[in-house]
Amino acid sequence: MRHSNPKHAPTSFESYLAESAEALSVALDERDSYTHVHCDRVSTLAVQLGMDCGLTQTELDLLHISARFHDIGKIGIPDHVLLKPGALNTEEWAMMKMHPVKGERLFRQTLHPQADNVADIIRHHHECFNGSGYPDNLAGSDIPFASRILLIADGYDAMSTSRPYHHGRSHHDIMDIMSAEEGIKTDPDLMKRFIRLIEHSPARAS
Ligand SMILES: [Fe+2]
Repeated sequence: MRHSNPKHAPTSFESYLAESAEALSVALDERDSYTHVHCDRVSTLAVQLGMDCGLTQTELDLLHISARFHDIGKIGIPDHVLLKPGALNTEEWAMMKMHPVKGERLFRQTLHPQADNVADIIRHHHECFNGSGYPDNLAGSDIPFASRILLIADGYDAMSTSRPYHHGRSHHDIMDIMSAEEGIKTDPDLMKRFIRLIEHSPARAS
């Protein structure tokens, strides 16, 4: 029997296409509900930072959808790696690092009106400002702006949350780590904004 979701009744053909991508989000929730919830929290924080940067509503919408789907490629990571209750070994880590590429491929196949733009942002959400990230070792302004925002929001949320293999860190511990990574991992100009913004954000850790 087919079930419809009246809460998501589309209002136009474009929104109908956008809604079709939601199936991927549900699939991620089925595989790994932590990552699904994490993506929603990252989205809130990323949009706050985007607003602080003065992004347009169109750019904020793109950032929002990219954040919600940034880890969608984890659908393609085997359970023994994705759900491992401990640190990953070298081989497992190499598999995990494939998730931005898998995510790009998945989202590009959707009918979402912004599929190509979102797919590019997803691919580069683990690029580091000094070029030491993955998958393409992009650096500085070669990294899409939205991907640089995502890296910061993603990092803060991941460190503030308790997982089977680590306790959530305090706000001050996280900021010590992130400050040391300015210009290495993160965009220093964005970090200046983030340091101000997070103090008054509902997402601030205790
Ligand atoms: Fe990720």
